[in-house]
Amino acid sequence: MSAVTIRDVAKLYDNVPVLRDINVTVDTGEFCTVVGASGCGKSTFLRMLLSEEQPSSGVILIDGKPIAPEPGPDRGVVYQRYSVFPHLSVLDNVMLGPSFSRAPFMARLFGAAARALREEAMHYLDAVGLADARDQYPAALSGGMQQRLAIAQTLIMQPKLLLLDEPFGALDPGTRKDMHDLLRTLWRDSGMTVFMVTHDLQEGFSLGTRVLVFDKPPMSASGASRGATITYDLQLKRRPSADAIWGPAHFKEIQENAQG
Ligand SMILES: Nc1ncnc2c1ncn2[C@@H]1O[C@H](COP(=O)(O)OP(=O)(O)OP(=O)(O)O)[C@@H](O)[C@H]1O
Ligand SMILES: [Mg+2]
Repeated sequence: MSAVTIRDVAKLYDNVPVLRDINVTVDTGEFCTVVGASGCGKSTFLRMLLSEEQPSSGVILIDGKPIAPEPGPDRGVVYQRYSVFPHLSVLDNVMLGPSFSRAPFMARLFGAAARALREEAMHYLDAVGLADARDQYPAALSGGMQQRLAIAQTLIMQPKLLLLDEPFGALDPGTRKDMHDLLRTLWRDSGMTVFMVTHDLQEGFSLGTRVLVFDKPPMSASGASRGATITYDLQLKRRPSADAIWGPAHFKEIQENAQG
């Protein structure tokens, strides 16, 4: 699994600093939520962890080694908007990623290999509650179902690092709550390291073992932006094995702690 070390990372777009002085070390299995004002660089931070963007300076290490320069199957991502393929059935959507990695030329497996992948895909569809919808097409699914499909699609690749960019932002509160329960279970069972961007502070505090708050300092006298950094790094002291801690009483306790 995956530990992440970020040292002195800065990111500039067109010479304008967006992020600066990012220093953080995250242990394997931590669940970091990332909060901060709109435009302060949260998605940019995730994109660097995915290698969709490169830092302008500084280094990112994964398990002690420099991060691969290209996105790879060790890092999975789920975005706010469903990234499923409309012309493929639910089951085929989940089988597509592994098909490409196992049969890179044709993305098609045969015989025992195809049967094994089908079983594996059904396992993940079952985990996200979509086994019965396996033959449907995305257009026939609700928003929450499509997002569960996107999660199954990502998890079947067994990423060591899971990156979530406001994954539940478009869902209604009831569906969100179900998705929180699902994500907690999947995270606890897998031991993945998770970074999740959210605009919802309550979601950030209730899901994370750690909350990273990004913020920008006031502009300099000349009016130039100085880029955002991590202004609070709140350890919530919860580990995946501690089952009892997820109840409302615990949530109240961390809210009180956070309010000082
Ligand atoms: N590819 C790019 N080229 C130029 N500027 C960019 C690029 N990507 C992001 N930016 C700028 O970087 C800043 C941070 O953007 P980013 O999307 O990371 O913010 P965010 O915190 O995720 O915002 P939101 O909460 O609205 O999603 C913004 O000012 C944005 O305009
Ligand atoms: Mg964003």
